[in-house]
Amino acid sequence: MKRLRDAGAEVKVFACDASDEAALKKALDETRKELGPIGGMWNVAMVLRDSLLANLDAENFTEALKPKIDAAAAMEKLTANDPVGDFVVYSSATTVIGNPGQSNYVAANSWLEALMRKRRAAGKPGLAIAWGALGDVGYLARTGEVKEKIQKRLGYATLSGAEALEGLGRVLAQGDMRLETGVVTIAPIDWGQARRDLAYLSSPTFTQVLADAEMGPQDSGEQVDLAALVRGKDAREARDIVAEALTSEVARILKLPAKEISPQRPLAELGMDSLMGLELRMSVERRFDIDLPLVAIGDSTTLLTIAQTIVSRIHEPDAGEAAAVNSDLAARHIGDDVDHAELAEFSEAVEARRLSMGRANA
Ligand SMILES: NC(=O)c1ccc[n+]([C@@H]2O[C@H](COP(=O)([O-])OP(=O)(O)OC[C@H]3O[C@@H](n4cnc5c(N)ncnc54)[C@H](OP(=O)(O)O)[C@@H]3O)[C@@H](O)[C@H]2O)c1
Repeated sequence: MKRLRDAGAEVKVFACDASDEAALKKALDETRKELGPIGGMWNVAMVLRDSLLANLDAENFTEALKPKIDAAAAMEKLTANDPVGDFVVYSSATTVIGNPGQSNYVAANSWLEALMRKRRAAGKPGLAIAWGALGDVGYLARTGEVKEKIQKRLGYATLSGAEALEGLGRVLAQGDMRLETGVVTIAPIDWGQARRDLAYLSSPTFTQVLADAEMGPQDSGEQVDLAALVRGKDAREARDIVAEALTSEVARILKLPAKEISPQRPLAELGMDSLMGLELRMSVERRFDIDLPLVAIGDSTTLLTIAQTIVSRIHEPDAGEAAAVNSDLAARHIGDDVDHAELAEFSEAVEARRLSMGRANA
């Protein structure tokens, strides 16, 4: 503020909830009275309520949408008769590539981007900047843990505040913005690392971008042929081999030595949250080429149970539901008291019986 004033600007602050149209109207009326007509509108507000879609309730969804959608809609409506030169909104690079746990935030930013495109199409100023992760200012810089998660998952290199402002200046300096520049993404992205964890990046949309991307160092030996590893082994040996492979995946996700991960303990007790569970599922699909049923990985699932499901899947690609469903049912109905080792053995026995019956019927 001081730097702006020192540079000769008159600065006044009118605080309000921008998603509340009446409050925003009051702030804009005061602004006009003191400073004259509105020459520019910027919406940089954000509220994060991250959660996997399955756990997201209406309240958390709405809270993330309001500061972006309701505020921008009110801003547009209330300045329709002002000589607005810049109408700028801040979006995120996650609208381009997605981010598990941020469906509400991505939806809100996508809406903002659509509004800016619509404004451009109507010949009005409108610009959405989809930022990458900012490393030294803002929310991520304040919350180390979230920053680390996002960087790990998306393979972002971070952008400094100074670099962001420099990029913003260059975009704003383009007076003759064409329609398609209504949305500009300014984000350094390590595509090689990002594609490890974001299944969406395997879609044809990204073929061109990813063609030259180097995979990160931890991707060496990307694919593991589990079927070859367990061939000729009995059921228990096969399960233990797969559990060992899973243990190293979980160790990578939790950044812990593999020897500290017990395959008998529920994932939640190991320190895995639901997003990490999703990461494990995606990594199993990618590295081992095995599709796991949705219920196969939950808070109370153990690596032994997942290994059991995978072994069943290897023997019969459509199998494995039984182990996953048993584990899910036990978690729902027995809760923390469930004996996971016993459950894994029960699932194993049911699966073995099911397979032998299948073979007998074949
Ligand atoms: N930081 C990043 O790495 C990053 C990356 C991509 C995109 N972005 C975008 O950049 C923008 C700023 O991010 P940031 O990291 O600086 O966020 P931040 O530090 O959390 O600041 C968000 C601000 O929005 C305000 N706000 C929330 N709801 C509001 C409402 N209804 N009316 C008025 N103000 C409201 C908050 O005010 P209170 O404090 O009073 O609640 C807070 O000052 C956001 O739009 C975000 O989507 C940031």
